[in-house]
Amino acid sequence: ARRCAVISDQTVADLYAPKATEALTRAGYQVALLTFPPGDASKSLAQAERLYDGLATAAIDRADLILTLGGGVTGDLGGFVAATWLRGLPFIQVPTTLEADVDASVGGKVAVNHASGKNMIGAFYQPRRVVIDVSCLRTLHKRDLTAGLAESVKHGLIRDAAFFAWHEARAEAILNADEAVLAELVERNVRIKAAVVAADERESHLRAILNFGHTFG
Ligand code: GLY
Repeated sequence: ARRCAVISDQTVADLYAPKATEALTRAGYQVALLTFPPGDASKSLAQAERLYDGLATAAIDRADLILTLGGGVTGDLGGFVAATWLRGLPFIQVPTTLEADVDASVGGKVAVNHASGKNMIGAFYQPRRVVIDVSCLRTLHKRDLTAGLAESVKHGLIRDAAFFAWHEARAEAILNADEAVLAELVERNVRIKAAVVAADERESHLRAILNFGHTFG
């Protein structure tokens, strides 16, 4: 790729876009930063269309790359845009929340919402790569950390009893955002999720277990 469109919500862009842009520029990319307002309301076709406008203005074509920088909303919305612009551009997920690290960034579900329900318009479209830096979790609000932790506990419950117990022994370190513990937590989650998705990418049987907690929620 020559150009890289970085898609990020405004909150995350304020925190991390300068660093990401600098690193990408150093690596030889021309960077176009496209931002949108934070929050689930941005997972809409209207917002996707604004991002398409941005891609057109930046002349992003098939030789280029999309990078989503942020939490689950950013990965879902930006991934949906990547899946549909020019019938699909390669994209890289760079999650910045614990929920996106352990769940949303892995597995290729990308979508926007419709009046009839959440994630009704979307695709299974795998990122070329997922790059997780747990130091981004330093700027996460405690409530968002515990929201991500709930997904991790859930992966223990559905797949790995020893991992479930691992959480109980490390609760304090996790809540204090100890980076070594968080790195292990993220790695174990990604292994669990990737194995389930590899067995059933399109959710015809096994993958439905990952919705444990979502459906009731
Ligand atoms: N977050 C549930 C799944 O990826 O299937």
